[in-house]
This record gives sequence, C-alpha cells and structure tokens, in this order.
Amino acid sequence: MKKNKKIDKVGIIGLGYVGLPLLYTFHQAGFNVIGFDIDSSKIDLITQGKSYIKHFKDSQIKKLSVSDRCVVTTDFSLLNEVDSILICVPTPLDHYRKPDMSYVVQTTETIGKYLRSGHLVVLESTTYPGTTDELLKNILENSSGLVDGKDFYLAYSPEREDPGNPDFNTKSIPKVVGSSTKRGRELAVALYEKALDKVVTVSTAKVAESAKLLENIFRSVNIALVNEMKLVMDAMDIDIHEVINAAATKPFGFMKFTPGPGLGGHCIPIDPFYLTWKAREYGLNTRFIELAGEVNSAMPEFVVNKIMLALNRKGKAFKNSKILILGIAYKPNVDDMRESPSFVIMDRLVSLGADIDFYDPWIPVIPSSREHMNWKGKVSVEWKETVIKEYDAVVIVTDHASVDYSELKKWSDCIIDTRNVYPNLSESEKEKIYKA
Ligand SMILES: NC(=O)c1ccc[n+]([C@@H]2O[C@H](COP(=O)([O-])OP(=O)(O)OC[C@H]3O[C@@H](n4cnc5c(N)ncnc54)[C@H](O)[C@@H]3O)[C@@H](O)[C@H]2O)c1
Repeated sequence: MKKNKKIDKVGIIGLGYVGLPLLYTFHQAGFNVIGFDIDSSKIDLITQGKSYIKHFKDSQIKKLSVSDRCVVTTDFSLLNEVDSILICVPTPLDHYRKPDMSYVVQTTETIGKYLRSGHLVVLESTTYPGTTDELLKNILENSSGLVDGKDFYLAYSPEREDPGNPDFNTKSIPKVVGSSTKRGRELAVALYEKALDKVVTVSTAKVAESAKLLENIFRSVNIALVNEMKLVMDAMDIDIHEVINAAATKPFGFMKFTPGPGLGGHCIPIDPFYLTWKAREYGLNTRFIELAGEVNSAMPEFVVNKIMLALNRKGKAFKNSKILILGIAYKPNVDDMRESPSFVIMDRLVSLGADIDFYDPWIPVIPSSREHMNWKGKVSVEWKETVIKEYDAVVIVTDHASVDYSELKKWSDCIIDTRNVYPNLSESEKEKIYKA
C-alpha cells in the first residue's frame, strides 16, 4: 500500500476545530494538502498566517501559509486535483433536536460534481450509523454514475479531537477507520497510517460511526450520573467532590467524572441524539440517552436556584441585581462557546430581570454563531478589582486556568462556584462562596 501514489494529495473540507488541525497534521506528515471551506474569512486568515482558533497557534498556521504543499480555497473545483477527500463539516441538531444533515448533504453534492475514478472519500463528521453507506453513497453514486467499491471508495473515520487537551493531538489520538468495501478500508487505513501514530481498523463504516457515538454517549450518561449524585449530595450537605475523589482511589472498576453546570460543546450534548433519532427507525427508544439529556439539561436551573439563594442571603432579588458570569466557553482554556451552559444561565437570569455581564479571557467579544445571536457583540468586562467589586454575584461557570481565583475571592463577597474552584471551604468562606 505504501507505494500507492493515489494517496499523496489530500483535500480536507471544513476547516473548523477539527478540519484545521487535520489539515496541519497531514501537511506535517509530508502530504500535499488542499483545505476547502465555504467561509472565505477563514481562507483569508490562513493565507495571512493568522489563526482563528485560539489554542491553534499563528506559528502553526504560518507553516501552512508559506508552504508550496498547501492550498486553501473556496474553489471546490480543485477537488479534481486531490486523491483523497476528508469531510469535517458540522453535524448539529435542528430546532426539533433532529440531526441536521444539511452541511453533510451539501458537501457530498459538491463532491459528487467532481468525483472521479479512484477517489477516496472519508466522512469524519460525527453522525448516525448508516450515514456513509446510505446517505453519502446514494448521493455520490447518483450524481456521478460511479460505483462505490469499484470506481471510488467510501470510508468513515470519526474525529476524536479534544481541543485544548495538552496530552493528545490529532496525530497522537488513535484513529478508528471503517469501510464496507475491502478496497475502501485498505486505502483509508493506508492514508491515515502515513500521517497518524495509530490506526484502528474496523469492519464497516457503520461500526466506526457507532463507536464514535458510544464514546460520547458514555460521557453524557456518566456526567449525568455524577450530576444527579451532586443534587442528592447537595441536599444531604455532603461534598460531592470529596465523595468522587474518595471513590476514584479504587484502582479498578471506577472512572472519575466531574459534575458541572450542564453539558456544553459541539459533541456531548448533541451526538447521542443522532443515535436516538436513528433508533426510532427500528422502533427502539434510547432511554439512557434521553434520561442523561434530561438530567444534564436541568443543571443550569440548579445553578440559577443557587444564585437566587446566594442573593437572598444578601437581601437581594434577581431583578436589577448585577451578575457577572465568569467563563462563557463550554470548557476551560478554549474559545469554543457552542452549546455552553453559560448562555442558558445568562438567558434565564435576564428573563428574571438581572443585569448580566461576562468575563472570559478566551472570548473577548461574543462572536456571531448559529446560536446565541442575542448576545452577539457583547464585550468581556475587564479583570480588575474596581470592576469585579461592582457585581452582586459572580458565577464561575468555566474554570479557565488563567483566571486568578484568589483575587476573585478578595474582590467579591458573593461567588457561586459550579466547578469546585474553591475546595475545602472554611466556615467563614462558606458565608460568601456557594457551591452549585
Ligand atoms: N469540535 C470538536 O471538538 C469535535 C470533536 C470531535 C468531533 N467533532 C465533529 O467534527 C465535525 C466538525 O466539527 P467542528 O467542531 O470542526 O465544526 P466547526 O463549525 O468548527 O467547523 C466546520 C467548518 O465547516 C465549514 N463548512 C460548513 N459547511 C460547509 C460546506 N458545505 N463546505 C465546506 N465547508 C463547510 C464551516 O465554515 C466551518 O469552518 C462535527 O461533526 C463534529 O461533531 C468535533
């Protein structure tokens, strides 16, 4: 397989949190790469050597922008030039929490126009089992007249990118690859083996699609479990974090999950419902997934109640109180705010009459996005004593590492801590720091 010249030019469609690092990784491995996106502002920034993802450095982008082995473009006719096409476009849920496959469909239709004999097409976006073999295959075969497994080759390889994780990157995370044709499997495995440290081959695209969903369902269900446990421990006045840390000393049969203010990100709150939707076709309900969703999506309201109790102790109501949300990214040390529980909490507090500001060192201004348009353009406040002291309450929703929490403790007399930033509170600290 290593001699196969057909895999030396790779096209990556969708240059977001997943596609951009993937483009970089294939380029670093010595491939010729072409990155495609419909968003011309992203193409312009890469061309200028500037990153639009905070944890992805300008120095990394510059390696792409100065290279004669890298082209980035909005011109999809260049798909003609590549041998392999990797699809990394969004797979959100629609307003009715059904899979929104429009990005994948649109991309596949575009590929269909330029598909030629020998092309390898790999879907990386997270999706329901059957997307590759049913949806993609039908669109590509119908639009091109070519046949999967004979003329062109389809495979699925889930993206496991964990943005901001210092221990793992695109290259070092094992890559699951599946295809329903032998040749598709061989080509896809050969491609990824040249760029990534470890490839795990599975028999079909459906197995690979399902494996990705299982990983994220596993997280969603376990997070729901510790979140439910948190509610019970809170009512019993037992410190959930001390309980979890004690349980985690068991060297087998236990895996540590941490409770929080609710689920966030483009994956865990969304992906499980891709299986729920597909399971209905088989007359099946996914009760664990639904229950986990129910528990996790109730967490922001728990936080709001804790804010109410904290304000109440100060003799204040929500109405006209000034509340600062600390952290609007969905997890620490990233600039990604998709599905962040911060917005659910902020919207609820506004509906109750509170006056809301935010501080986030990773997101100075709330950008335009598919969600949260009501918050677009709002600017993070400055981190200084005179500013922070103005707020009746500060709610830590995202525990970014660069925030000085000892300063916060000095500056604010009412902190709602949803991330256990302040463990082991003294009796006097309990007067102003509330666990939520
Ligand atoms: N972000 C993560 O941490 C993560 C981790 C694992 C898997 N995933 C999955 O990877 C996929 C991509 O996620 P992401 O976070 O990179 O999304 P993203 O929104 O950051 O990036 C998607 C990119 O695709 C582009 N795009 C949209 N439609 C297009 C089209 N028709 N043609 C070309 N480009 C188009 C967008 O402009 C954007 O730049 C999703 O299925 C997601 O579930 C994401």
